[in-house]
Amino acid sequence: MCADSSDAARELAAAVLPADTVGLLEGLTTTRAIRRYTDEPVPREALRAMLFAATRAPSGSNRQPFRFIVLTDGPKAGAAKKLIGDAARRTWGGKRQRDRYDSGTGTVADSPKARMAAAMQQFVDGFERVPVLILPCLVRYRDPTPTEGASVYPACQNLLLAARALGYGGAFTGWNFAVDAQLRELLGVPEGTFVAGTITLGRPAGRHGPVRRRPMAELVFEEEWGAPADWALDPPGTAFTSAGPPRPPAAAGGGTAGGTAGSDEERPRS
Ligand SMILES: Cc1cc2nc3c(=O)[nH]c(=O)nc-3n(C[C@H](O)[C@H](O)[C@H](O)COP(=O)(O)O)c2cc1C
Repeated sequence: MCADSSDAARELAAAVLPADTVGLLEGLTTTRAIRRYTDEPVPREALRAMLFAATRAPSGSNRQPFRFIVLTDGPKAGAAKKLIGDAARRTWGGKRQRDRYDSGTGTVADSPKARMAAAMQQFVDGFERVPVLILPCLVRYRDPTPTEGASVYPACQNLLLAARALGYGGAFTGWNFAVDAQLRELLGVPEGTFVAGTITLGRPAGRHGPVRRRPMAELVFEEEWGAPADWALDPPGTAFTSAGPPRPPAAAGGGTAGGTAGSDEERPRS
């Protein structure tokens, strides 16, 4: 570390976290998957705050098996972005066909489905320009179990929520899985460590806003499976959507993208 950077590190270590201007409940109901970013780099102060939030996440027995590889503009970051970007383009290309994004209302300019496809295409086409990638990892201490993800994915959501609090945005993606072996070799990820996803991060070019989900009454039961709770009422102004991915035209009554009403360009699902 040169003198300048160690001075900067000392200064950063002495600095408190940036002010949080978004309330917790508001933040977690308005943290969308953001896939379009400005070219603005994410400063170390902001990365430090987001990663601090991530590393405060819960984990089984508080083992804290999560690790994070932060990729910005170094040579390995560039190579990893290209590797994952190529995988993203291949994977999205297949999904675009499989989920028939280009039929039904997908052919209607400006329909939610067409906008989703355009947003996803733009995301993967410009993947190498995403300011920051974060690879959350899980250091395994036993054979894989169905619940092991619960010791790394809450940290990912903490990170995305912290990004939201600081005016940044991101998306959790699984684009890395198709190039797992190459990535591990490039970044020196040890055996027994699971690379659990790829979080893209930057200053949103679009905006955050209320997430859309199915009505609470469809998702919350009381006493037994399927029994609605009479207090499970969405607050006024809640916007809904059905669960993705888009249904084929016959099932979707003309091929809407999962029946999404009033979607905007940040709405694609994966
Ligand atoms: C397990 C998981 C996997 C995901 N994989 C991808 C992905 O590969 N690519 C992507 O663009 N978004 C991905 N997402 C983001 C979801 O598409 C997004 O959260 C969902 O459509 C809801 O949109 P919203 O978060 O903006 O409300 C993933 C999210 C989760 C939780």
